[in-house]
Amino acid sequence: MEKAIDDYDMFSPDDRLLVAVSGGKDSLALWDMLAEAGYQVDGFYVGLGIGDYSDESGEYVRAFAAERDLHLVTVDLREEYGYDVPTAARATKRVPCSACGMSKRHLFDKAALDGGYDVVVTGHNLDDEAAVLLGNVLHWDIEYLARQLPVLEARNGFPKKAKPLVRLTERETAAWCVIRGIDYLVEECPIAAGNRHLHHKDVLNSIEKESPSTKSAFYLNFIDNMAPLLSGQTAGATGALNDCVRCGAPTTNEVCAFCRLVDKASAHEPVPVELVLGKRGRR
Ligand code: FES
Ligand code: ZN
Repeated sequence: MEKAIDDYDMFSPDDRLLVAVSGGKDSLALWDMLAEAGYQVDGFYVGLGIGDYSDESGEYVRAFAAERDLHLVTVDLREEYGYDVPTAARATKRVPCSACGMSKRHLFDKAALDGGYDVVVTGHNLDDEAAVLLGNVLHWDIEYLARQLPVLEARNGFPKKAKPLVRLTERETAAWCVIRGIDYLVEECPIAAGNRHLHHKDVLNSIEKESPSTKSAFYLNFIDNMAPLLSGQTAGATGALNDCVRCGAPTTNEVCAFCRLVDKASAHEPVPVELVLGKRGRR
């Protein structure tokens, strides 16, 4: 982790960090590693209202913070914004992960700016990043490829973002949790189960089995050799943004996508999670 922080110039011990935690192994391992290494780091958790999964993930996060006397900032979508992820999915007629991701990103950025944090950090590991990279390469999605960096500088009202675990695999973060006695939620989000991202992970794992260290070469060499060639290729890097008239967040419209989502989803009847699980998501 320290090597990634140094190599990519993520932050220093003077910075105040906010880490997004889900209750899973990666985010809790990251919070623990950063605190152990002496960084000033608080946690941030969003209650997404995804049935038992959200109830349990919240319990793991709260227990982790309480046991270690760490500060946790929480937001509950249903209590504070009048909707949850299953209802947002139904109201917008889009896949649940899109409303979920947008809500999390918006609230995370807002919490960081409101709380005066210098950098927001997430627990994306090498397996996550390599799988996303494979997906982006398979579609030659230049816009996404240009932004798939372990650190993004603050810009246009967005806070600086960093992923300190990009050199570590899932097995390594799980091992850290075992060694440190961290209790985490093993179950994945029931909605995400079986998605394309998980399939890309399986593909990379089978290549890795035949040719060890391919996964890290694929991702880390992309960052060193390819990403510099793509810098400046993002439309968002140059486009002008204004403040959302409702919440002040940066947006290309008058009202930002999050505020529009809140309007739509909070007006909709609550939808139980079972109704939005696709065939593959059902267990
Ligand atoms: Fe967001 Fe599953 S965690 S849809
Ligand atoms: Zn807004």
